[in-house]
Amino acid sequence: MPRESMAERGKPRMKVTIVGSKGQLGSALQKALAGESLQLLDLPEYDITVLPAARDEIISFQPDVVILAAAMTDVDGCERQPELAYRVNALGTRNVALACQALDAPLLYVSTDYVFDGVGREPRWEYDTPNPQCVYARSKLAGEQIVRDLLTRFYIARTAWLYDRTHRNFVNTVRRLAAERDSLRMVTNEEGSPTYAPDLAAAIAQLIRIPAYGIYHFTNTGTCSRYEWARRIMDLLGRPDYPIYPADSYPRPAKVPAFVELRNLFGAALGITLRPWQDALAECLRDG
Ligand SMILES: NC(=O)c1ccc[n+]([C@@H]2O[C@H](COP(=O)([O-])OP(=O)(O)OC[C@H]3O[C@@H](n4cnc5c(N)ncnc54)[C@H](OP(=O)(O)O)[C@@H]3O)[C@@H](O)[C@H]2O)c1
Repeated sequence: MPRESMAERGKPRMKVTIVGSKGQLGSALQKALAGESLQLLDLPEYDITVLPAARDEIISFQPDVVILAAAMTDVDGCERQPELAYRVNALGTRNVALACQALDAPLLYVSTDYVFDGVGREPRWEYDTPNPQCVYARSKLAGEQIVRDLLTRFYIARTAWLYDRTHRNFVNTVRRLAAERDSLRMVTNEEGSPTYAPDLAAAIAQLIRIPAYGIYHFTNTGTCSRYEWARRIMDLLGRPDYPIYPADSYPRPAKVPAFVELRNLFGAALGITLRPWQDALAECLRDG
């Protein structure tokens, strides 16, 4: 346990509610905010879709700030079950925002690069107009809109292609499949920014200490295709000879963007930047 400095000992602890505390980002936020007073909420005990419990549980804690990291994140599942997607990502967001409204507390809502259509190769800035192409993205944008409608103090932090060491995600799926199969096929025409959940959590932990509300774009910097990402994972695992073959997109229920690079203008102006995706991936896989 690191010893607290004099300055840290005198600092009042923030009261922070983390909704979706067991997920990739929620787990990383627990570590990034370990010095604060935390309320941890997630399924099955806490369901953002159920009123009045979803609102009242937060109100009872009287947080200084609420972070909403819970969502229905199964992109193809959202396409198959659109009503459930909107129930969780839009109605659930509304319920959490109602708690913030009652408390006059700011909400940090985590959103996605998929709110953009992925057409063309121009980077997307915080002020660019979204154009979502699948149910998941539309339901997340609906959540953004609800937060903007109900609250005056909010942060919307858009991110992309999250992964960590332990949860189900692209990195761990590639590792598992490579252990089971002689080779892999990976798409070359889907590009984004792999983002290490602890790096995003650190950026959010910095941001909520600054009352500079608005939209933010937080991803590890740089982009790659799923093919390049998988190749880099296997290289970092010491298996540069493992065969990975390039492939075109495979048929799937959801239409996902072909290329999104979120550009961080507003966060960088506050001194909040994330490292290149290759460096974060190397750290994730080191000793892992
Ligand atoms: N994953 C990505 O690549 C990605 C990319 C861009 C943006 N985002 C956004 O980033 C945020 C965090 O993503 P993540 O990858 O950390 O998600 P995650 O690992 O799927 O975690 C989400 C958490 O929310 C919980 N949850 C789902 N429905 C709930 C409900 N009705 N009530 C309460 N909790 C509920 C989940 O529980 P169960 O596991 O039991 O369902 C899970 O613990 C989300 O807002 C997501 O939209 C993610």
